Amino acid sequence: MKGLLRNVLMSAALVGICSGVVGHAQAAEQINPSLTPNKILNVAHRGASGHAPEHTLLSYELGQQMKGDYIEVDLQMTKDGELIAMHDETLDRTTNGTGLVKNYTLKEIKQLDTGSWFNETYPQYAKDEYVGLKVPTLEEVIEKFGKGARYYIETKSPEVYPGMEEKLLEILDEYKLTGPNVPSNKVIIQSFSPESLKKVHSLNPYIPLVQLLWYDGPATITDAELEVYKTYSIGLGMNFNTIDEAYVQKVREHGLLIHPYTVNEKSDMRKLLDWGVTGMFTNFPDRLQEVLREANKITLKGNR
Ligand code: G3P
Ligand code: CA
Repeated sequence: MKGLLRNVLMSAALVGICSGVVGHAQAAEQINPSLTPNKILNVAHRGASGHAPEHTLLSYELGQQMKGDYIEVDLQMTKDGELIAMHDETLDRTTNGTGLVKNYTLKEIKQLDTGSWFNETYPQYAKDEYVGLKVPTLEEVIEKFGKGARYYIETKSPEVYPGMEEKLLEILDEYKLTGPNVPSNKVIIQSFSPESLKKVHSLNPYIPLVQLLWYDGPATITDAELEVYKTYSIGLGMNFNTIDEAYVQKVREHGLLIHPYTVNEKSDMRKLLDWGVTGMFTNFPDRLQEVLREANKITLKGNR
């Protein structure tokens, strides 16, 4: 009987999402209690990328060890249509290759070293084991961390990669992280591109989405803009040093989550938590974990 009631309530919440009767963040919370604004998300930005080369399995592993709630994965697409974990459209900054990712096959990209640049750029964090690390595919990441992890995945430059969203959803379905009528808190999809998020939303309205924003100066946002974002997303992410308490409160009042990026100093973490953010991206999930413990905050991994 309890199970039946739960199923009825869940169906009602799903109908609410589709019909727009229930706000997205509230509906997401009904389906995924872990996405309640009361639980602060510690998102390991490109893994624990302050400690290890970004977007490597080692960096993601460290993020998990440091109690990050989500592994953040930026996606690029190879010439032969494979999704890889990489921030830039070009290979130059984080590998010993050069040129656009889209001009190389996965086999060619797999020849590259994505660890040595880190040792040269951050000698204070350098380790021999980072030399020769390979660029992982999204599938390799999911195979390694499985359903025991949560993934906060960004469609990067979707206008450059037609079919990126379809490929992503195919992989998530294949690994049973999403599926028809299978709501999950295992995956959040984020993008700076509203078109990309709306496409994902049209293909699968049950995946929680976060709209990323970039401000060149002090951030402002209107009620009308927030209402538009609410039609397809559960939250917003923006460069943290452009917002203030009033901005955070306004986003929250509209029932949206707010996950600023990329917050690496404890003083900034404390300030943002005081203002009411519901999570943040950090290269140092260990630092955020310490701040959350000090602040007696509830997190997905059980801090209080
Ligand atoms: O995804 C949040 C944040 O990562 C956006 O900035 O450039 O680091 O992907 P970026
Ligand atoms: Ca990102």
